[in-house]
Amino acid sequence: MSVRIIVGAQWGDEGKGKIVDLLSEHADIVARYQGGANAGHTIVHGNKKYILHLIPSGILHSSVHCVIGNGVVIDPVALMDEIRMLESLGVNIDGRLHISHKAHLIMPYHKMLDQAREKLAGSIGTTGRGIGPSYIDKAQRVGIRIVDLLDRDVLAAKLRTNFEEKSAILEALYDAEPIDIDRLIEEYMAFDTQIDPFITDTTSFLHQAIKDGKSILAEGAQGALLDLDHGTYPFVTSSNPTSGGACTGLGIPPTSIRDITGVVKAYSTRVGNGPFPTELNDNIGELLRSEGHEFGATTGRSRRCGWLDIPALRYSCMINGITEIALTKLDVLGVLDEIKICTGYRIDGKPTRYFPADVGSLERVTCDYITMPGWKCALDGVRSFEALPAAAQEYVSTIERLLETPVTWVSTSPDRDDTFRR
Ligand code: GDP
Ligand code: IMO
Ligand code: MG
Repeated sequence: MSVRIIVGAQWGDEGKGKIVDLLSEHADIVARYQGGANAGHTIVHGNKKYILHLIPSGILHSSVHCVIGNGVVIDPVALMDEIRMLESLGVNIDGRLHISHKAHLIMPYHKMLDQAREKLAGSIGTTGRGIGPSYIDKAQRVGIRIVDLLDRDVLAAKLRTNFEEKSAILEALYDAEPIDIDRLIEEYMAFDTQIDPFITDTTSFLHQAIKDGKSILAEGAQGALLDLDHGTYPFVTSSNPTSGGACTGLGIPPTSIRDITGVVKAYSTRVGNGPFPTELNDNIGELLRSEGHEFGATTGRSRRCGWLDIPALRYSCMINGITEIALTKLDVLGVLDEIKICTGYRIDGKPTRYFPADVGSLERVTCDYITMPGWKCALDGVRSFEALPAAAQEYVSTIERLLETPVTWVSTSPDRDDTFRR
């Protein structure tokens, strides 16, 4: 029995796709547990680049089975596009993709509501993929699940009820175009035929796999600080990317979890709005963005960049129970003369031990920094900790010491091969 959860420890885009792909080499199953097509997970092999939004990042390994769990919200259009993209690149998914019959569907009106709401003041800066409105319907108990596609009459009745409410809201509040409900029903019935071979009772599938001693990776999307309960609310996503989300999002018990790998980018980034204590609005931030190619894999938006934030990461290690860290993008820091690490927050000049729960306080914090020398060189071809320049070794060891958590993987380029284990 071995379940390892892979979580993003910051605000997403830490390099989870790369690390999941790497660890999939020794896995039997990779299971995605929350979020939807708001995620963009990048995998690079040689000169090929794959960006996955819904399908787990283990899919490129031909012997790995991939699960989209009940906690995920599925946009049929995004899913079919992704299946076709993989097929066109020669990746055979037949018999290897298993979609939970309990997963909720994203409807066109969810995307319309998401995008319309974003135009209001105080917007979150969402991906516009309909994630929030779909999870709202789930919590409201009016969501439409994969299992509802099995019966055309049930689907049509549920859609019509939802549709009346949503179109009233859209038309009254957002002045949106009306939706053609009959066409929608046809489209979702057609989707059912296409995904029928993949629909599974994934909870039973995973329990049997646990019983059989299979090796399972649970893949999180987004990051701990975007968690609906534990993140920088309200500037968060609408699900639980933290490790606890793997149990509810897959229907596996906490007792089945053995390891929790936190993926940490060697500096910080954030896409969308919300507090970001170590943000760099200067030429160093620009340099990190250009060197790290910090543009969203889903929306193409520029990512805000800043120094590594230890108070946020300590909090992330705590709420996730991170047992080891995979440190990514160390190479990007090779352009800097000096590198700063935020080691503590102050509010009104006084050090604070806790990660503030309210956005107002988090926006007011000032950061205490330590400054470390840069190594000023590329890390091409480095395949061991000992082969890193001394200043880079010191940077990694400092992170370990400050977080009291071992850094077991170090990544030095987008490519699968440029990663080493300590
Ligand atoms: P995810 O959402 O956590 O899977 O991360 P994304 O794929 O959205 O963003 C991470 C970006 O960094 C992708 O473009 C990766 O190809 C790239 N990447 C991952 N690890 C490294 C690394 O060690 N060095 C560099 N330079 N790029 C990396
Ligand atoms: P991966 O899995 C980075 C951000 C959005 C926005 C907030 C809410 O690639 O790390 P949503 O569309 O989820 O309602 O938007 O969350 N966000 C992400 N930021 N990486 C992601 O996914 C993200 N998914 C959502 O930018 O601030
Ligand atoms: Mg991403």
